[in-house]
Amino acid sequence: MLASCHLLLLSSAMLVPTFVHGEDLSWTAATNKVHKRLRREWIWNKMHISEEKNETLPHHVGRIISSIQNSNAMYVLEGDGANSIFKVDENTGDVSAYERLDREKKAEYQLTAHILDRTTNKSLEPPSKFRIIVQDVNDNAPIFVQRVFNGSVFEMSPVGTSVTTVTAVDADDPTLLGYADVDYKVIKGQNYFRIDKSGVIRTAAANLDREQKATYEIVVQAIDGKGLQAAESGTATVRITLIDINDNSPVFNPTKYQFEVLENITLNGEVGKLTVEDIDEPQNRNTKYSFASGNFQDTFLIIPKPYTNEGIIKPKKPLDFEKTSSYQFSVEATDGDISYANSKTKGSKSIATVSIRVIDVDEPPVFNRPSYMFEVVEGSDIKKAIGFVSAIDPDRAKREIRYRVLRSNYFKISNNGAIFAERILDREEHSWHNITVAANEIENGKILPQLETHAQVFIKVRDINDNAPQFTEPYQPGVCENAAPGKVIIRISAVDKDEMFPGLKFTYSLISDESNFTLIDNHDNTANITVKYGEFNRELVKTHYLPILISDNGLPPQSSTNTLSIHVCKCNEAGEFTFCEEAAKQMGVSVQALVAIFVCILTIFVIVLLIALRRRHKKDLNVLRKNVAEIHEQLVAYDEEGGGEMDTTSYDVSILNSVRQSSMTSPRMTQESRPCVYSQVQKPPRHGLSGTGEMAIMIEMKKDEADNDGDLLPYDTLHIFGYEGAESIAESLSSLGSGSSDSDIDYDFLNDWGPRFKMLAELYGLEGGEDFAY
Ligand SMILES: *[C@@H]1O[C@H](CO)[C@@H](O)[C@H](O)[C@H]1NC(C)=O
Ligand SMILES: *[C@@H]1O[C@H](CO)[C@@H](O)[C@H](O)[C@H]1NC(C)=O
Ligand SMILES: *[C@@H]1O[C@H](CO)[C@@H](O)[C@H](O)[C@H]1NC(C)=O
Ligand SMILES: *[C@@H]1O[C@H](CO)[C@@H](O)[C@H](O)[C@H]1NC(C)=O
Ligand SMILES: *[C@@H]1O[C@H](CO)[C@@H](O)[C@H](O)[C@H]1NC(C)=O
Ligand SMILES: *[C@@H]1O[C@H](CO)[C@@H](O)[C@H](O)[C@H]1NC(C)=O
Ligand SMILES: *[C@@H]1O[C@H](CO)[C@@H](O)[C@H](O)[C@H]1NC(C)=O
Repeated sequence: MLASCHLLLLSSAMLVPTFVHGEDLSWTAATNKVHKRLRREWIWNKMHISEEKNETLPHHVGRIISSIQNSNAMYVLEGDGANSIFKVDENTGDVSAYERLDREKKAEYQLTAHILDRTTNKSLEPPSKFRIIVQDVNDNAPIFVQRVFNGSVFEMSPVGTSVTTVTAVDADDPTLLGYADVDYKVIKGQNYFRIDKSGVIRTAAANLDREQKATYEIVVQAIDGKGLQAAESGTATVRITLIDINDNSPVFNPTKYQFEVLENITLNGEVGKLTVEDIDEPQNRNTKYSFASGNFQDTFLIIPKPYTNEGIIKPKKPLDFEKTSSYQFSVEATDGDISYANSKTKGSKSIATVSIRVIDVDEPPVFNRPSYMFEVVEGSDIKKAIGFVSAIDPDRAKREIRYRVLRSNYFKISNNGAIFAERILDREEHSWHNITVAANEIENGKILPQLETHAQVFIKVRDINDNAPQFTEPYQPGVCENAAPGKVIIRISAVDKDEMFPGLKFTYSLISDESNFTLIDNHDNTANITVKYGEFNRELVKTHYLPILISDNGLPPQSSTNTLSIHVCKCNEAGEFTFCEEAAKQMGVSVQALVAIFVCILTIFVIVLLIALRRRHKKDLNVLRKNVAEIHEQLVAYDEEGGGEMDTTSYDVSILNSVRQSSMTSPRMTQESRPCVYSQVQKPPRHGLSGTGEMAIMIEMKKDEADNDGDLLPYDTLHIFGYEGAESIAESLSSLGSGSSDSDIDYDFLNDWGPRFKMLAELYGLEGGEDFAY
């Protein structure tokens, strides 16, 4: 049927409405100009063939037809599958397929048809493109994209709740009706789940209960619209998990509990554990515990433990065996927030009975107060008790109690808890004594150290006025010789070691009325000292001593005499002191300052020492670094001559001599020939002068010169070393004539020592440029 369709297609212009080449084809350029070609055209552009044909190969596809009538014409194909899958009969233009085609592999082939001249291979017509369309047959069944799908839904969900979506695809042409449509079907588990046309799986039953069955494995099948169904891959498994909700109540297991607990259990301690069973998953249990009977809410707490859901019983207040030795109550476990309205267990209660037995413990003594506060007046009689503490044995035994004062040697405590001071207390020494008292139980006169309790005792020492006021500081005022009467010399104030209570008043008065000074009480606990007569004479009295009586208004009042030393000072016109009494001046240097100064000096000394050591160390290193030749040179430079020519054991004189010879001709020679100004004056000429006479004359001359020059400093030590006598074979030993002979040493290394040695480097670096006299 399909084949005939193609034939029709080829012969019918109606089914091939578009012509590829409808234009005028002129061949004038290529061939004879005289012949005018007629309008030629391909009359097709599309062919169809069905896929998966079961007939014997080749399958006829269609025919290339051209209206050209040329017995020499030849049809040739080019393009997808040309001459392999598709071949054309070169004479008739029949196109055949030599392979079975599969639309799902390749649905369309692009080809080009040529009409050539058999002899010349030249195109008789322009080539034309056409397509071979492979037509679908419903040969593919829908296939699931996964073999296994997972899905989940809350248990107890209403019917129709979506669980998950599955997908199957059909490779057939979707434009052809029914070929690629997919229908789904649940083939296993259809009692609980259904699937719709779009692959959405929904619950088909209410009351899916996780606690009965938590997972379902259903099988779904996909069929295409024509009923075609793949054998294996047309089905898929869907694993559906039910998600837990809190739809079950807790149930006690067991329902009877018996606990024993020591009476000294701490408030954080655990009395016991109640266990419940709840078939919901742990996070959905949320058990609540409450007292059903026996009102012990004030004694115990039941705290649900997360996850395990156990109820932990804890004491809410200390237990006391002597008061209550056992407790009985019942506990109810509920699940407050059950979320499913139709839950079977909703509203049900589980009740357990609990009995707790308190076990007696031998407990340490208990003070009647957590801490004690006593007040004692300073200086009071030590035989009087400061206060009493009291502790008892809380147990039935009611043992006797002994007390101790811990870590204080100021106080002692009697067996009945009375606290005494060991010595008279002084508020000015300690205003508070905060001590710890221990109470122990005794048995047969022996202290039981394990049964010990401590209590804090705060003892406040109350003040009495037992100290007289004094000057705030040792005043050292001065007064001008010519001070005018009424001039304020100083304003004095006082302090009192006793408690400075708010209404405290100091009164000041002079001991004697006959005085050169006046005291004015300022009534603000200070007083001014002023000059009464004026005109003080330093020659007569250098320091005036002024005794002042200071009293307080305490009970009893206290007073003391403080003497003010007033120095008579020289003053300038402005009234400023220019000179006061020396002896009166205090050394204004405190001990701390002295220590600081000493530390500074020590630090400087250590730094200097370190620098010196470092220098020496560097020098040593430097000498070592020098090579042998340099060391020889140094020997020469110092003009060291050793033990003379005969002493060949100490020195290799030949080396010394050779080096010496060479150094004679070296730049050193030129330096020597140009001695410094200083040495020129002092030193007698080396050659030419032969007699001592001339030398003596010269010395005399110099002495005269010096004697007659008044401007010069005494010149007695005049360069005695300058004279060595004449005609010495060994030449002069004086360093004066050698000028800067030391500069023979290479001081370049100084430059490497960094900026710190820059100055030295500059001085020594000037080789021969300047002369230095040492
Ligand atoms: C070819 O044969 C197979 C198996 O016999 C059949 O399933 C298929 O449909 C056939 N194809 C056509 C195009 O008739
Ligand atoms: C024409 O083309 C064919 C195939 O390409 C070739 O074998 C033949 O020799 C050619 N003929 C001429 C005359 O060029
Ligand atoms: C489905 O769940 C199982 C078990 O939890 C898991 O092993 C599997 O990988 C899951 N499959 C998919 C497709 O998620
Ligand atoms: C309670 O008393 C017992 C026995 O005297 C003792 O072993 C235990 O340590 C005490 N516990 C506490 C918390 O004090
Ligand atoms: C002692 O206790 C009192 C009251 O608590 C407090 O004011 C005082 O500073 C304490 N003294 C000492 C020395 O601890
Ligand atoms: C007052 O000062 C004079 C000297 O300036 C001295 O001689 C005299 O004794 C002083 N009077 C008293 C009471 O100190
Ligand atoms: C006391 O001396 C101070 C200055 O030291 C002064 O300001 C004050 O006015 C004087 N008081 C009286 C009562 O003179």
